[in-house]
Amino acid sequence: METTNLDKQRDMDGLRTQALTCPGCPNRATRLRVVFGEGDVHAKVMLVGQGPGVVEEQTGRPFAGPSGRLLDQALAEVGLERGKLWLTNVIKCRAVKSEKGRTVDRAPSAAELKACRPWLEGELGIIQPALIVCIGVPAAKALIDKKFKLSEEHGQFREGPNGTRRTAVFHPAYVLRLRGVDQAAYERTWRALVDDLRLVAATAQDLGD
Ligand code: URA
Repeated sequence: METTNLDKQRDMDGLRTQALTCPGCPNRATRLRVVFGEGDVHAKVMLVGQGPGVVEEQTGRPFAGPSGRLLDQALAEVGLERGKLWLTNVIKCRAVKSEKGRTVDRAPSAAELKACRPWLEGELGIIQPALIVCIGVPAAKALIDKKFKLSEEHGQFREGPNGTRRTAVFHPAYVLRLRGVDQAAYERTWRALVDDLRLVAATAQDLGD
């Protein structure tokens, strides 16, 4: 049976409601809130990041902090409208560690990825994206290949399950970390992020987006 537009929105709203009280998360005791995906449920392109940071956890919105602003800038450069995409993360609760007395974000653990996978699969099942863009290594390893090498394979497209095409780009947080530390590497990775997203925009346009 065909899924109507209304069904997609209703199903996503239902999934979000369930996710917001997820009991399965190893971070349930420390999280401020669950950060579910957002965007257009009819999107052909789904962007999947690593996990919420401090601003995302405060606002409840994915890519709402500094790396989100850089992502917005890159999307604008290539003419991709954020509101027409679906943006989410492989894990929906902030993962942190203590470093020199400060609380900092860290990559998701295997247990966190496993606990969160049903929410990600739920989003994939409802959106049914033609194109999946993994932002950073954890998403690429979760959705493309567990041996994925971002520095070598970013911007390349692979065929995935259910007729999806999948690619990965540098994480804007990584680009930001290079700024002021290694200017040449910063400019190179920023350019790569924009160029890779330009390919995504062109492919999305071929798909009639
Ligand atoms: N980094 C991510 O991977 N996702 C966000 O939502 C924010 C920062």
